[in-house]
Amino acid sequence: MAGETLLSVSGLRGGYGGKPVLQGIDLSVEEGEIVAVIGRNGVGKTTLLKTLIGLLSPMDGTIRFAGEDVTSLPADKRAKVGIGYIPQGREVFPRLSVSENLMVGETAGAGRSEPNYQRVYDFFPILKERARQAAGTLSGGQQQQLAIGRAMIGAPRLMLLDEPSEGIQPSIVQEIANNVKRLNAETGVAVLLVEQNLDLIVSMARRGFVIDKGRIVAKLGPEEITSRDVVRRHLAL
Ligand SMILES: Nc1ncnc2c1ncn2[C@@H]1O[C@H](COP(=O)(O)OP(=O)(O)OP(=O)(O)O)[C@@H](O)[C@H]1O
Ligand SMILES: [Mg+2]
Repeated sequence: MAGETLLSVSGLRGGYGGKPVLQGIDLSVEEGEIVAVIGRNGVGKTTLLKTLIGLLSPMDGTIRFAGEDVTSLPADKRAKVGIGYIPQGREVFPRLSVSENLMVGETAGAGRSEPNYQRVYDFFPILKERARQAAGTLSGGQQQQLAIGRAMIGAPRLMLLDEPSEGIQPSIVQEIANNVKRLNAETGVAVLLVEQNLDLIVSMARRGFVIDKGRIVAKLGPEEITSRDVVRRHLAL
């Protein structure tokens, strides 16, 4: 239901091998919302998403999802409670076919609903056309669609989307934004979007958090996150 808190993060600290990158992050995402975390290279955006999906263990703080404390739940269990993850650089399996890549998503998110391949193929017709082709032969934009489709198969309630515009032709970036917005509108999936791309941020997000050196340094409301000037200024800080 819209307006209910889906993800709530408080005092989150984490990083690699005892070296903290995240310095106490507080943020929340409500049901059905698209929220952006914006910030420059190396400020901790990917570290945040990896900690939220459970690939990195937090050093401190709590992560609540759909009313449940998932702070110490392993990554596979977080996928099963409804958190989907679309990593930076997409990380499709290049030698597996497109449909086999989607099956991997089914295994990851299994159990909460029937996998709906047709829905993925309706969203991304190119994936149906290329279903038997090795994923490594797809263009960057197509691989991004595949990575999103792989998460969709698990019917997530929240998708963690890490820099989907990276390495994608500018002409395709808007297409990706439109796809994710349509997915959000039709399925109600909430999205936590990590980005530096101005066009993608202002066209997708309705609220935002600015991260710098592992801390949230500003919160942006609907007026601010859709203002190119405001977002540009925060990205340049
Ligand atoms: N595997 C790792 N081991 C040790 N340090 C790492 C590792 N990955 C990232 N870091 C460090 O953690 C900090 C945050 O990196 P992170 O990848 O979260 O940044 P980011 O905001 O996602 O950057 P980008 O926009 O370039 O993707 C950086 O100082 C980075 O060098
Ligand atoms: Mg990153």
